[in-house]
Amino acid sequence: MTILKIRTYPDPILQKKAEPVSRFGTEEQRLFDDMIKTMYTADGVGLAAPQVGISKRILVASPTMTQGEEYVFINPEILEARGREMGLEGCLSLPGISGEIPRAKVVRFRALDREGKPLEIEVKDFFARIIQHEIDHLNGVLLIDRVDFDKRQELLASYQRL
Ligand code: NI
Repeated sequence: MTILKIRTYPDPILQKKAEPVSRFGTEEQRLFDDMIKTMYTADGVGLAAPQVGISKRILVASPTMTQGEEYVFINPEILEARGREMGLEGCLSLPGISGEIPRAKVVRFRALDREGKPLEIEVKDFFARIIQHEIDHLNGVLLIDRVDFDKRQELLASYQRL
């Protein structure tokens, strides 16, 4: 397995809408494994393919940060979102900064698993937050796009000072 290079803001690939995946061959399986490895190595709880320079609708997540307890979701699509909750979020593509971001408390979504099999799942709280954050990445949206203008300026100023 290879540890992939994580792209950081303002890399333009992070602001681009990613393309759906339709192949689930050896090359894709390797990418899923490399993304999982990269996520754990970076101490992340989630990682989206654009963050490693691949503009495809793939995300990996491990809410418990425990090897063997990770998920791979392809072409995810939120079907229902309920509740609203603020929570502190960071991002591997914006190292060193974090902000309070509003997210739905519960999300029901459909996706394909790593073999291309469709699934539908409902997650809540921290897991739901990860899913929403990573799906944002697939749409070219970063956490700095989820705060008001003043907060965005403040976060970017501290990011640029790092
Ligand atoms: Ni992120």
